[in-house]
Amino acid sequence: EKELESKLPLRGKKILITAGPTYEAIDPVRFIGNHSSGKMGFDIAHSAANLGAEVILVSGPTNFKSNHSGIKVIPVVTAQEMYDACHEYFATVDVAIAAAAVADYRPKNVATQKIKKAAVNFVIEMEKTKDILLSMGELKKNQFLIGFALETENEIENAKLKIQKKNLDLIVLNSLQDEGAGFKKATNKVTFIDKDFNIEPMELKSKEAVADDILNKIKAYFHE
Ligand code: CTP
Ligand code: CA
Repeated sequence: EKELESKLPLRGKKILITAGPTYEAIDPVRFIGNHSSGKMGFDIAHSAANLGAEVILVSGPTNFKSNHSGIKVIPVVTAQEMYDACHEYFATVDVAIAAAAVADYRPKNVATQKIKKAAVNFVIEMEKTKDILLSMGELKKNQFLIGFALETENEIENAKLKIQKKNLDLIVLNSLQDEGAGFKKATNKVTFIDKDFNIEPMELKSKEAVADDILNKIKAYFHE
């Protein structure tokens, strides 16, 4: 039993993870999306499942697959679908990690027919989507809540504001500053900031290694 616990320290823990982009329809054949591959979220899911956690992975469109017995993948397309899936599970989990690149806006009206080319300029009116992580922060009871942040200016200050606004325990700040970090890349340069504003800059490393670092934070939370 002791040995099992050291090999599978997250046995009995349930972890909700969001991954990938969302696609917001413009018309039946077009959408607004982003370059997120889903890799970071899938890597976190695998690290967590390998430590014995039961993982619910809510993922936007991605080429990644998982047949790990500890991972249940829930495929979604839009921000609203991701929101609904997260809310179905949030109350039952011990940890939630928002690694998805959720669209902040979606077309206000979705055309039912393919839009024909006509005028020289074409404007799409957009409306805000729901902030999934913010809503989980509002509902939070004992869950350990982890968010990501992507900033191009005032990185640390903006990340701290996100911790407070979204009621997070930890934020993983992605640096786009460094070559070799970010979307479509195999590596990430991150800085961890916790709710007490302790700042921990990490080396540039593979997304698998960043995932392991995140799981180390979760293990520490359960064992302190
Ligand atoms: N997030 C979310 N739902 C949204 C938007 C963002 O769950 N509708 C989550 C992301 O998964 C990430 C965190 O919120 O964990 C921060 O996302 P980010 O885009 O950096 O910040 P925003 O709060 O959307 O603010 P802005 O884009 O204006 O910086
Ligand atoms: Ca955003």
